[in-house]
Amino acid sequence: MEDPDLFVLPGLESPFEKLAELVYFSLHHQADFARLHVSPPRGVLIYGPPGVGKTRLVKTVAQKFNINVYSIVGSEIQSPYFGQGEKVLVQKFNQAVDDAERNSCSLIFIDELDTIAPNRDYASNHETRLVSSLLVLLDGIKSRGNVIVVGASNRPNSIDSALRRPGRLEREISINVPTRSDRKAILTYYLSRFGCRTAPAPTTTTSSTIESGTSPLSPLFNNKKYTCLTKTKFFFAHFFRKDFVEWLAGRTVGFVGADLEALCREAYIHSLTHNPDLMRPLAASDFAEAFKLVPASAKKGYTIDVSDYSWDDIGGLYETKQ
Ligand SMILES: Nc1ncnc2c1ncn2[C@@H]1O[C@H](COP(=O)(O)OP(=O)(O)OP(=O)(O)O)[C@@H](O)[C@H]1O
Ligand SMILES: [Mg+2]
Repeated sequence: MEDPDLFVLPGLESPFEKLAELVYFSLHHQADFARLHVSPPRGVLIYGPPGVGKTRLVKTVAQKFNINVYSIVGSEIQSPYFGQGEKVLVQKFNQAVDDAERNSCSLIFIDELDTIAPNRDYASNHETRLVSSLLVLLDGIKSRGNVIVVGASNRPNSIDSALRRPGRLEREISINVPTRSDRKAILTYYLSRFGCRTAPAPTTTTSSTIESGTSPLSPLFNNKKYTCLTKTKFFFAHFFRKDFVEWLAGRTVGFVGADLEALCREAYIHSLTHNPDLMRPLAASDFAEAFKLVPASAKKGYTIDVSDYSWDDIGGLYETKQ
């Protein structure tokens, strides 16, 4: 079976191509660019709502091209000690440059970029210093080696605009909430990963259709209630109908990849706990229960604080109140 980290997730094919193209340029067309005295684009900003697969995309590209990733995370950088954050940034960039010299290319990944490099108009002193250091490092890295810098964020408008100018994180890749056909592909992917197989018609699990294999969920069933299942080592597969996926795709508007994964997992758990003999396909009722546990991220509500004070609680200031 293919390493899951090397698998381009359904619906992420186009962003994958865009990022892969950039790495490919840096790896294979270095000499061509040098001949023209231009440097290939080496900075990308990936943005989109939470759970659409931004982080996963970067890891997949790095694995496919076999290049090392130097991740920079907010918690490392936001140290209370003066200059500590800048020091970590410089160290990571230096490590990536050394690596690129040894292995022809490396990648710096700054996840949740908006927390590290917020708009300087609204930033604290500490954050402003970090943004400036990052800008200097990004400018310097062009001449230092074959290093690709990828930033990811779900709040691109909060990122300091200087980072997004040509020569820095100049390429932008947006990943949106999956469309209906993306959702179908993602659902099919997860249903098959959880041991389900498509069946054209309502299934009868005869011995010839039973497939062997160990379910990825087997560690969940180490308790007594499921001893019968662990004993059989999951020599069963669930079956689902193709039109069932179609129906599910229609019911999951606003679900991102991470939601769909959670939804299938919850449905599968429900099916297993209510059918310990594993002899029936996943049903709409399993998903009905799963829907109660997994709402669509894109539609999740948010809370706001509404002040208890009214204009009448403020004395004077008549003109300002107008
Ligand atoms: N298109 C997809 N197909 C299948 N699974 C997906 C897809 N998108 C996301 N996932 C699942 O959701 C998980 C979370 O994705 P990831 O961490 O990459 O999201 P993210 O966009 O970086 O979110 P955040 O903005 O919160 O960091 C992935 O590991 C994967 O299991
Ligand atoms: Mg992420």
